[in-house]
Amino acid sequence: MGAGGLDPRRPGAGRGAPWTAATPRLSWAAVSLASAYGKVILVGEHAVVYGTPAIAVGVGVAATASARLGASPALSIAERRWALDDPEAAAAPEARAFRALVGALDGGLGRASELAAEVQLLQPAGVGLGASAAIAVALARAVSSALGAPAAQRPPHELLAAAQAWENVFHGRASGIDAAAAFHGGCLWFEPPAPAEVLKLTVPLPLVVAVAGPAVSTRLMVESVAALRQAEPRRVEHLLRSIHALVLDARVALRLGRASELGALMDRNHRLLGELRVSTPALDAACDAARAAGALGAKLTGGGGGGCVVALASPEGAASVLDAWRRAGLTCFDATLPASGPE
Ligand code: MEV
Repeated sequence: MGAGGLDPRRPGAGRGAPWTAATPRLSWAAVSLASAYGKVILVGEHAVVYGTPAIAVGVGVAATASARLGASPALSIAERRWALDDPEAAAAPEARAFRALVGALDGGLGRASELAAEVQLLQPAGVGLGASAAIAVALARAVSSALGAPAAQRPPHELLAAAQAWENVFHGRASGIDAAAAFHGGCLWFEPPAPAEVLKLTVPLPLVVAVAGPAVSTRLMVESVAALRQAEPRRVEHLLRSIHALVLDARVALRLGRASELGALMDRNHRLLGELRVSTPALDAACDAARAAGALGAKLTGGGGGGCVVALASPEGAASVLDAWRRAGLTCFDATLPASGPE
């Protein structure tokens, strides 16, 4: 993570430094600015809620945030605004989540009522790309700096705890993987309660992503798996254990650069997520289209029920998968992660 960087391609946080074209035009001197990554989950979503590991990959900057003290207290996200001194607006989930986030950073001193914070979204929300966590991490960084504790100098676990306080309002039983991915970017091994580990990639990871279904609440999808687990405990335990096993194999395949094996594991993960009933015909069709266009593997990513699929392309194959998706009318993009160097 770039300490104090303000380039939106390198999330971080700083104070009063130059800003770029992708960000709001701000005229205050004492404004704190920050950003955070979006993510896809390569393998392991849903099972990670029950304590098994998962692998996430950063997909560029999803949110930027600014915060300043001493203004009329408000939270703005894209086109929406909540005046924090208006009792009706202050009861909205976003305002509650903001107070929880600020409370985790200021030791419960109630300083949310002194802050004006503004978030710009650079990726679509609600489609499994971790927009909510990116908002939370960008806000945690910007608010921390605005309160006088520069984010780059604050221990990551404190910023992540603040982001998680926000996430808990929206996601109920969130594992924390989205916030960890928003914070670190790169390729991330997440195995609670251990801190997330950034995995080195010796070769680029040619990932492509398509929005294949409507926005869906992650909370609802997590609750639907919890309900299935209660109704069919033995079957669901077996499915979760199978996902756990393939995540371990995926780490080895990544480390050894075995792309075909990794693709096959993504396919298997998608089938198991289908058995957890979080896939849909549209997500299945987008995965099939990717495979037919040469992808080594494809799966839904995030909570499912709608949202995005991610496919692993062959080294030269990303363009043909993207072409196939575009012909099917899907919005899609290249999310290739560059190699991070030798181990
Ligand atoms: C959402 O991106 C991933 C889930 O596993 C929920 C979570 O881990 O918090 C579905």
